[in-house]
Amino acid sequence: MPPTPVLETPRLVLRPVRSKDAPLIQRRFPRWEVVQWLNANIPWPYPADGAATYVAACLEAMARGQKAHWAIIPKSGPADLIGRIDLWPDDGVSRDQRGFWLDPEFHGKGLMTEAAERVTRYAFCDLGWPHLWLSNAQDNHASRRIKEKQGARLVDLMIGEYVGGRGPQMVWLLRREDWLARETNA
Ligand SMILES: CC(C)(COP(=O)(O)OP(=O)(O)OC[C@H]1O[C@@H](n2cnc3c(N)ncnc32)[C@H](O)[C@@H]1OP(=O)(O)O)[C@@H](O)C(=O)NCCC(=O)NCCS
Repeated sequence: MPPTPVLETPRLVLRPVRSKDAPLIQRRFPRWEVVQWLNANIPWPYPADGAATYVAACLEAMARGQKAHWAIIPKSGPADLIGRIDLWPDDGVSRDQRGFWLDPEFHGKGLMTEAAERVTRYAFCDLGWPHLWLSNAQDNHASRRIKEKQGARLVDLMIGEYVGGRGPQMVWLLRREDWLARETNA
């Protein structure tokens, strides 16, 4: 992937993650409401150096062109990150190409819908990708709803391993033509 660009939405700036973000991620991320639906490879209880280790891995993945990692900054403040969103290419196996989380203080305001739409536009219109594989725990209604709103099609139901335990996992395919058609019809 090319270097992670700065992206903008009406209410948000998405900028590449930096090593200086680690202390704030360490403060905002390790909440049960956030981690319970995330992949079981996230260490829990979250170690004191969890964010520093993760940010270092993000920087390496970005330097190698493997992934894009954005910090989500609200234009109306606070002047620092309130969550993150990531994007990576289809590896032909894992059927998942996007991850996101937001500090619970900012949930329910449509902010992740806005961030996800912008990152999707980047994937389809700038990178020219034909589709995005997406996935979530079946009980994760907010994440599931974002996929529905984007025009993704549910293509599989399997079992996922989450921090909160093992459970049904929904697999979605968002095709560029479906996403563009939905935008045109809006
Ligand atoms: C998933 C997450 C990022 C959503 O962020 P958000 O900014 O609160 O989402 P939005 O405000 O854009 O809302 C998304 C949609 O979900 C709906 N929604 C939110 N919570 C819901 C719930 N508990 N039940 C049903 N729908 C819900 C919203 O109403 C909205 O749909 P609408 O526009 O039709 O009303 C946030 O909940 C989060 O950080 N969760 C923990 C981490 C996580 O689960 N990441 C994704 C892993 S796949």
